[in-house]
This record gives sequence, structure tokens and C-alpha cells, in this order.
Amino acid sequence: MSNKDNARTFTLTNNETGESWELPVLEGSVGPRVIDVRRIYADTGHFTYDPGFTSTGSCQSDITYIDGDKGELMYRGYPIEQLAVHSDYTETCYLLIYGELPTAEEKTKFEQRITYHTMLHEQIHSFYDGFRRDSHPMAIMVGVVGALAAFYHDSTDITDPKHRFVASTRMIAKMPTIAANAFRYSQGMPFVYPRNDLTYAENFLYMMFSNPCEEYKVNPVLARAMDRILILHADHEQNASTSTVRLAGSSGANPFACISSGISCLWGPAHGGANEAVLNMLEEIGSIDHIDEYIAKAKDKEDPFRLMGFGHRVYKNFDPRATIMRETAHEVLKELGLEDEPLLKLAMKLEKIALEDEYFVSKKLYPNVDFYSGIIYRAMGIPTDMFTVLFAVARTVGWVAQWNEMIEDPSQKIGRPRQLFTGSATRDYVQIKDRG
Ligand code: SDX
Repeated sequence: MSNKDNARTFTLTNNETGESWELPVLEGSVGPRVIDVRRIYADTGHFTYDPGFTSTGSCQSDITYIDGDKGELMYRGYPIEQLAVHSDYTETCYLLIYGELPTAEEKTKFEQRITYHTMLHEQIHSFYDGFRRDSHPMAIMVGVVGALAAFYHDSTDITDPKHRFVASTRMIAKMPTIAANAFRYSQGMPFVYPRNDLTYAENFLYMMFSNPCEEYKVNPVLARAMDRILILHADHEQNASTSTVRLAGSSGANPFACISSGISCLWGPAHGGANEAVLNMLEEIGSIDHIDEYIAKAKDKEDPFRLMGFGHRVYKNFDPRATIMRETAHEVLKELGLEDEPLLKLAMKLEKIALEDEYFVSKKLYPNVDFYSGIIYRAMGIPTDMFTVLFAVARTVGWVAQWNEMIEDPSQKIGRPRQLFTGSATRDYVQIKDRG
């Protein structure tokens, strides 16, 4: 980040007093410049105001760049479209964490490191028994991930790079195991131990669906599709859950607590919970004949209904991940002989109608990453309430990379926003006998 040209400033003037202040403009390597407002309160006695942070940069980062107007997404400079075709998830994890694509030797070493941390402390298995079988698996994820701090005390000191290295490895490696266990627990099936001869995506599908009574072979087409979906969801700049992880981490909370806070935030239907909400919405719409009725509901200001899987805070043209997800949906359904899956047809018709509707076009509402993922997961036999769990598995590397970047940033301090107070001015206590 640099303030290359001193003349590059914004002048802030208080029109009541005539005072003016020069605010530095900082420039990154690509994307919008930022106006440095860090001194505004000290100099002017005023806070800035930006609920929802629509115009606020919360940090400096080298990890992921999004251009919402061009529909571009890059991890460490590499376009998502290229990574989705040429890379795999563990290589993408290496890239997000270390900033460069690994050599063949580095990739092998990193994959071994992840593989050898996929098992859970055996006592964690009994932790699941505390949940009802019909618990939402996201509730289980929040609980079990947060509780990892109770098992892995040797990697909770965030000031120690070795602890951060081990905790980061454990988080990335163990999420598929924790997630698969949540699914198995809900099905009354025994937990399946990870295998060291499978890739990350293969291992996840194996732990989800294998049957201890017979040989189970992971379908390579589904494994490749799962691997690509994991890549697409791995990181996404300062989205709500990543910002939650950074804020939790800024207080010095241990890494497991930070990731658990990210999982909690991701669960919301406006964020990662949207993939589950899309499937529920498609099932509620039911048939192509009802699409117009639901489009009208989505446009009706009085109706809280929104077209789930549509719209994005940043993408105002198209979500490049949605394009790849749509292609993957066709691939998976073809592989499984489900091309005529009614929900896929319904989704495609809904997308077509919405993209031609003035309301959606004028508000730049396009399908986002969540619109097609649920259709793929459902075709794979993954229940709807597990969809956001898969998002959390994939996004853990992004949370971990951003968390490490924040901890290693010498300028980082505890996040503590202020407010515009609109409550009561000071007033004296009234004894209960004197109240009206
Ligand atoms: C993810 O931030 C990230 O990067 C997130 C994510 C990631 O990888 O981390 O990309 C993952 O969360 C994707 C988004 C998944 N959520 C959904 O699909 C839920 C449905 N979408 C919306 O709730 C909404 O579009 C958001 C939350 C995604 C974005 O909301 P914004 O940017 O705050 O925009 P907004 O709510 O102010 O909406 C702008 C206008 C409003 O109308 P007006 O008040 O201006 O008249 O568009 C309307 C909204 O009513 N609108 C929609 C709509 N989304 C926005 N109307 C109908 N259907 C929708 N889906």
C-alpha cells in the first residue's frame, strides 16, 4: 500500500467552521484507491458512518481480489476460472496461505501434512453424542469446531508462529472429518476414519458415504466436481464470515474459536446459508408454472421474500463462480443420469426469467455462487442441511489465510467500531414507587 503521490489527497471541509483537513489517498496494486480516514475522529471529533460497510475497507490484504463490475475473482492474482480448470483444492490452499503456487515437491509435502492431520482426537467422537440426532449439522459444526480448543491446547497461542502453523493445518485437515461425522451422526451411521491414500475431496466423499460392510469406490467425476466446488468457495475477500473471523481474531481469541465464529456467521441465509435456502425455495416454487408468482413476490417491497441465490454485495454483473457451478451442475447430473432433474430445469427457467426481468436487471441481481451448488449437492445425495457445512469446509482455508495475514500485520489492532448514538440523553434514576 502506498501514498505514491503526496498530492493524492481528499480535502474534508467542515462548512460550519470552515476548517479543512487533507485525507491521504492510498493505492493498492489493483482496484479502487482508499481514503485513509484513520485520523478523522482525532482531528475532527466526528466518526465516519457506514452501516453494512458498503464503502469501507477494513484492512489491507494480498490474498483475494474481486472486481464486482467485471465479474472477476482472483486468488493471489490467479483468475478463479484458471484455478478451477488447472488446479486442485489442496494446491489452492497452499496458494492462499503462502501466496505462490507450490513446486511439485512443496505440493507433495503440503498434501502429506494435511493428510496426516485429518483424524480427530478420539474423544471428540463422544462430543457428538451430546447433540440430538436431528440437530442441524451447522449447530454441530459450531460446537465441535469451537471445542477443538479444549483438545488441542498445544496450538492455541496465536503469538507463536509454530502454534499458528499447527492450528492452521489442523483446521484445514479436520473440517471434512468433522463435517462428515456430523452427517453420519444424523443418519445413525458409524463414523468413518479418513484414509491417507485419498485426495482431500475423495476423502470427504468417502467419509460421507462409504459403508463399513462393503468396499466403497469414490466416483472420480463426483470427486473432481467436489474438488472444483471447494476451490470456488475457498476465499472471497472481506465477506461477512471472513470479517467475523478477523474481528474475533483481533482480540487474540484462539484460532478454533475464530473459525467457529466464522461458521456461525456463514450460517445466515443472506450469506453461506443461501445454498440451503435456494433448494428450499426451488422446492417451495415446485413447478415452472409458479415462477412468475415468486418473481412477483421477490419484487414486492411489502413481501420479505427474496430470490435466494440471486444478488451480491460486490458482483454487479455476474458471479464468475456461478458460471462454473452451472457447468459443474450439468456435468454431475449427466454423470448420474439426472439431466432431467426437475429442480435443475426449474432453476434454469427461473434464472432465464429473472435475467430478462427489468427489476433484476436494473438492480444488477444475478445468480451467485449459491444458486447452483445445492442442485449439485442434492444430486450427490447430500441432504439440504449439509449444504452450508460444505461451504464452511471449503471456506476454512480462506478464513485461516486471512486470520494469519491479520495476526502477522504489524499495524493490526483490536477491531472496535463506534456508533451514531440516537438513544436517551443522560437522565437520573427514578425509584420504582415514583414511576408512572
Ligand atoms: C454469499 O460477500 C460475499 O462475498 C458472500 C459470498 C462469499 O463467497 O463469501 O459471495 C457468499 O453470501 C453469496 C450471497 C448469498 N445470499 C443470497 O443469495 C441471499 C439473497 N441475496 C440477497 O439477500 C442480497 O442480494 C445480498 C445479501 C446477497 C446482498 O445484499 P446487499 O448488497 O446488501 O443489497 P441489498 O440487500 O441492499 O439489495 C439491493 C436491492 C434492494 O432493493 P432496494 O431496497 O434497493 O429497492 O436489491 C434487492 C433489495 O431488496 N435485492 C433483492 C435480492 N437481493 C437484493 N430482491 C430480490 N431478491 C434478491 N435476492
